[in-house]
Amino acid sequence: MRITLIDGSLGGAGGNTAAVIAPLLEALRARAAVETLHLAADARPLAALEPLLAASDGFVFATGTYWDSWGSPLQAFLERATGLEASPVWLGKPAAVVVTMHSVGGKAVLSRLQGVLSTLGLLLPPMSGLAYSYAGHLALERAAHADFWQRDDLAVVAHNLLEAARGGRDWRAWPVDGGDPHRRWL
Ligand SMILES: Cc1cc2nc3c(=O)[nH]c(=O)nc-3n(C[C@H](O)[C@H](O)[C@H](O)COP(=O)(O)O)c2cc1C
Repeated sequence: MRITLIDGSLGGAGGNTAAVIAPLLEALRARAAVETLHLAADARPLAALEPLLAASDGFVFATGTYWDSWGSPLQAFLERATGLEASPVWLGKPAAVVVTMHSVGGKAVLSRLQGVLSTLGLLLPPMSGLAYSYAGHLALERAAHADFWQRDDLAVVAHNLLEAARGGRDWRAWPVDGGDPHRRWL
């Protein structure tokens, strides 16, 4: 299987998003060939990227959160890739999405981006989208909490992406807070 990372962050290969998703790429590399596109430093025209995209069995889209939106390299890529909408390059291929942020906005970016990818023709496997914040990272250093996304959850993202890519249904789930969701936390 061939999985391609489309990194639309501003930080690129040396940024926070790349550091957060490193365990995801490691998990994917155990079972698939992984190519990486760091859009911030990649000036190639879409035509030069198209053979790689067409040969991919699945994708990871990754970005930071910048003023409540995904990175401008990703926006530029989506604008250029609009001509591939509904084409075999995307149609039915699974996409995992990882969004990083300092504190707020990343889940909205994740949900909007997943909506765009679905409209382009990509498939969203279960539990394949994750928003990871610096705030949550600091909190997890003090105490574990099942309801906070953590980097261990990236193993589930990797598994479900590859499961979808091979046409399987053996889904995994990350831990969830099984207690009373209405309980007071303050
Ligand atoms: C211009 C700019 C705007 C940002 N806006 C937000 C924001 O709206 N919400 C937030 O939680 N973090 C925000 N951040 C923090 C980044 O989302 C966070 O550091 C992210 O992990 C950066 O990823 P990168 O290093 O891969 O680019 C912003 C950072 C920059 C540089």
